[in-house]
Amino acid sequence: MHPTFAPYPTTRFRRLRATPALRDLVQETVVTAADLIWPVFVVDGEGVEQPVVSMPGVVRRSVDKVVEAAQEAADLGIPAICLFPYTDPSKKTLDCAEAWNPDNLSNTATRAIKAAVPNIAVMTDVALDPYSATGHDGFVVDGEIVNDETVEALVKQALSQAEAGCDIIGPSDMMDGRIGAIRGALEGAGHQKVCIMSYAAKYASAYYGPFRDAVGASGALKGDKTTYQMDAGNSDEAMRLIARDLAEGADMVMVKPGQPYLDICRRAKDTFGAPTFAYQVSGEYAMIEAAAQNGWIDGDRVMMESLQAFKRAGCDGILTYFAPRVARALA
Ligand code: PBG
Repeated sequence: MHPTFAPYPTTRFRRLRATPALRDLVQETVVTAADLIWPVFVVDGEGVEQPVVSMPGVVRRSVDKVVEAAQEAADLGIPAICLFPYTDPSKKTLDCAEAWNPDNLSNTATRAIKAAVPNIAVMTDVALDPYSATGHDGFVVDGEIVNDETVEALVKQALSQAEAGCDIIGPSDMMDGRIGAIRGALEGAGHQKVCIMSYAAKYASAYYGPFRDAVGASGALKGDKTTYQMDAGNSDEAMRLIARDLAEGADMVMVKPGQPYLDICRRAKDTFGAPTFAYQVSGEYAMIEAAAQNGWIDGDRVMMESLQAFKRAGCDGILTYFAPRVARALA
């Protein structure tokens, strides 16, 4: 208890809240455009911008439009863009060979962005689900998602992404041992500079629903991802996964989803001090947008508040579909 000297309160916290200038001066954490990674969906064609129904304001873009988006992001000071391909169902197979096709949509988009907007970092996703007829992130054998065979395929996928020129590889598959295997393969192939952002603490979450729509994986998926993604009740396990992935050569780690797992973000940052990111996933985005469209919340303010929470929880950056909107609001 603070001593009080009646009739005055000893400490007047309201003094520093009285004006915008004083509030800005003492604000502890600040969101800037440089904290943002913008996930974008890529689709075949030219001049295409196709709305994703479950994510109002988000579109799937053909490669030429993705390049325009990358330029817009760079102009807004957003340092990185993250590519997620919508693969034509005819290219989805059980062996997932499209995943390491040098000319697949993701690699084509990477090359186009690096040629036109060299100063933006391109992040690519490593997992088999966009290419798999099963909708799973790994190979399915006798109803099981097999680990080691999947890791071999993920290595081929990662190498094809590095060849295409990506700056950051984001393994989102949650197989065991994939970070070490990918790091070793990148080193061996002369890609020492390619960074790895591990989806280290990725939960088996119902918040990914709209994303699976956006990449066309929801129809294909049989069963759920609970044998490889994490149980929502676990926190110690997240620390062990992050420790393991850092030891295997990850440069940055991610917690996913974001807002429901802010405790994991804080614990990760405090425990390891590594560059820590959160993914504000499709369901989080959709919830804010749906409530805002109904007039139930002020969407712009909730957007900013939600991102501030990630910085306060210790994150160095955030993957968010709001990225360009936030950067414009901050500009
Ligand atoms: C799949 C992947 C998913 C997301 C990113 N990579 C979905 C999943 O694991 O089923 C989700 C992103 C989002 O919901 O915004 N490897």
